[in-house]
Amino acid sequence: MMMERNMRYSSGGGMSCCLSVLAALCLSAAAVARGQLTDCFYNYGCPQAASIVKARVSDAMKAEARMGASLLRLHFHDCFVNGCDGSILLDGSDSEKLAAPNLNSARGFEVVDAIKADLEKACPGVVSCADCVLALAAKYGVLLSGGPDYGVLLGRRDGLVANQSGANSNLPSPFEPISNITRKFANVGLNTNDVVVLSGGHTIGRARCVLFSNRLSNFSATDSVDPTLDASLASSLQALCQGGDGNQTAALDAGSPDAFDNHYYQNLLSQRGLLSSDQGLFSSADGVATTKALVQAYGASTQRFFSEFGKSMVKMGNISPLTGSAGQIRKNCRAVN
Ligand code: HEM
Repeated sequence: MMMERNMRYSSGGGMSCCLSVLAALCLSAAAVARGQLTDCFYNYGCPQAASIVKARVSDAMKAEARMGASLLRLHFHDCFVNGCDGSILLDGSDSEKLAAPNLNSARGFEVVDAIKADLEKACPGVVSCADCVLALAAKYGVLLSGGPDYGVLLGRRDGLVANQSGANSNLPSPFEPISNITRKFANVGLNTNDVVVLSGGHTIGRARCVLFSNRLSNFSATDSVDPTLDASLASSLQALCQGGDGNQTAALDAGSPDAFDNHYYQNLLSQRGLLSSDQGLFSSADGVATTKALVQAYGASTQRFFSEFGKSMVKMGNISPLTGSAGQIRKNCRAVN
């Protein structure tokens, strides 16, 4: 179903009249319209949308540099469940926030609220939660962390329902083999290169001990510690996690936790990946067969990583968008109107 919607999207069919006019206007301004989303969707309805989002993200990151990472992850977790429709932001008993991959983990919702409040003041009822959060906040989270300035396509509308069971089943777990993770990406139209490139998002942000401490003790019948984990990193992580409740956090990229760079891949080359699913891209049997060469390529070239990251982010942001008259523009990202 999701693949079907993706295919329809990429064939560019079904564009609404309103969007056609808008796209034509955008094109006449020498902008590029691709499929149903465009890179100038708010040029007329809310030209200041991007600068409002950027200013709020910048404030939030001054208070806590990690927030850029948290906003990037929200975008990813939203797009993999019902497409990029802001469904992760909805509160309620079926909320995606309560699904295992998000509970006590997904963060940044207050920043989203603040961005949305500013946008509603400036341009009431115009900018969707899906766009202001999913696309723009993630873009500025990456950019303000030192990452690439990729072009974001806009025009997504907000979904009407959350999908908690979808969040539990569609989002990849750090305990899964690479082949499972690759399959989950394929289910939303993303390929093996996208898996490796987007995993590079782990160049920023943190993870809780509970998500990697399986690598630190009683690893297997023969090894106490994961043999694909660097020994000195293993001891410092053991010290961090020992006796705790599992909620202590370690940097996903220990050398430069808040800088968006290609050190994530260089870490993998020296067995310093934090999550099993990170290190598996380079060291696991299925990773060696499919993803190892890509890790080496991105570890060798920041430029190549940055350029591919932008492309894969645009692809991820295009997963089953609601456009035309589908969905709505929520007034409050936490509830349908
Ligand atoms: C490939 C499969 C992936 C797996 C298994 C995975 C898993 C995880 C886990 C377990 C955490 C830590 C959560 C916690 O401590 O509560 C995390 C954090 C994070 N993930 Fe992923 N992830 C994947 C892909 C991605 C992608 C595609 C992106 C974005 C493009 C991304 C961006 C992030 C970021 C930025 C953080 C840090 C968030 C923060 O510090 O608040 N991840 N991921």
